[in-house]
Amino acid sequence: MMKKTALHIISSARGSASFSKGLSSAIVDRLISKQEIDTVIERDLTREAPPFLKGNLVGAFYKDPRTADEEERRLLQYADSVVSDVSNADVLILGTPMYNLGMSALLKAWIDQLVRFGITYGYDEKGVRKGHLNGKKVYLAIASGGRMADWAPDNEFISSHVRAVFNAYIGDTEVHTLRVEGTAMPGFEADYQTIVANL
Ligand SMILES: Cc1cc2nc3c(=O)[nH]c(=O)nc-3n(C[C@H](O)[C@H](O)[C@H](O)COP(=O)(O)O)c2cc1C
Repeated sequence: MMKKTALHIISSARGSASFSKGLSSAIVDRLISKQEIDTVIERDLTREAPPFLKGNLVGAFYKDPRTADEEERRLLQYADSVVSDVSNADVLILGTPMYNLGMSALLKAWIDQLVRFGITYGYDEKGVRKGHLNGKKVYLAIASGGRMADWAPDNEFISSHVRAVFNAYIGDTEVHTLRVEGTAMPGFEADYQTIVANL
């Protein structure tokens, strides 16, 4: 049987108390038990935070890699490791807390290191943008203190952002969003098995 590799990204600072980590881990276990994945690479972004984009790194992003000097190659190391992690994965499981209606800054910084002109996307001869890493499956695990049903529908930003950025700059990507909601409500208890039951 073909080996399928998953990349599990953790981006909550709350360690084992994190509901997004609890949900993303339940997704990993469920996909293993369904034999959809068999190898899991885990990256906890709170252990090694992705660097923010600075001028000299942005410059290196847009340079022909063959002409990068030693300093630029050093700056690109983290970004190159993210591209390699994602290239090697068939399935991505991304965990994020909702902070101020958005994804965690760690996950956003990781995405900013992943998206690279000439590497993850480019333009064809007609000027149409094309992602180069097609066919990834993304499971997005979002934990929020409140519930989506309590907000206006146009206040959904995390899932729509991840879906849009992957399909624009990574490749054709199936994004499945799972939510653990209302974590800040009194007496809340997470039932991950029910959330992942339909996967
Ligand atoms: C700085 C901060 C901002 C937050 N913003 C929101 C928010 O906009 N909407 C919401 O429903 N919950 C919000 N929360 C609550 C978290 O989403 C909730 O605690 C969630 O369980 C965090 O994920 P984690 O358990 O994986 O750490 C916020 C929490 C913090 C610390």
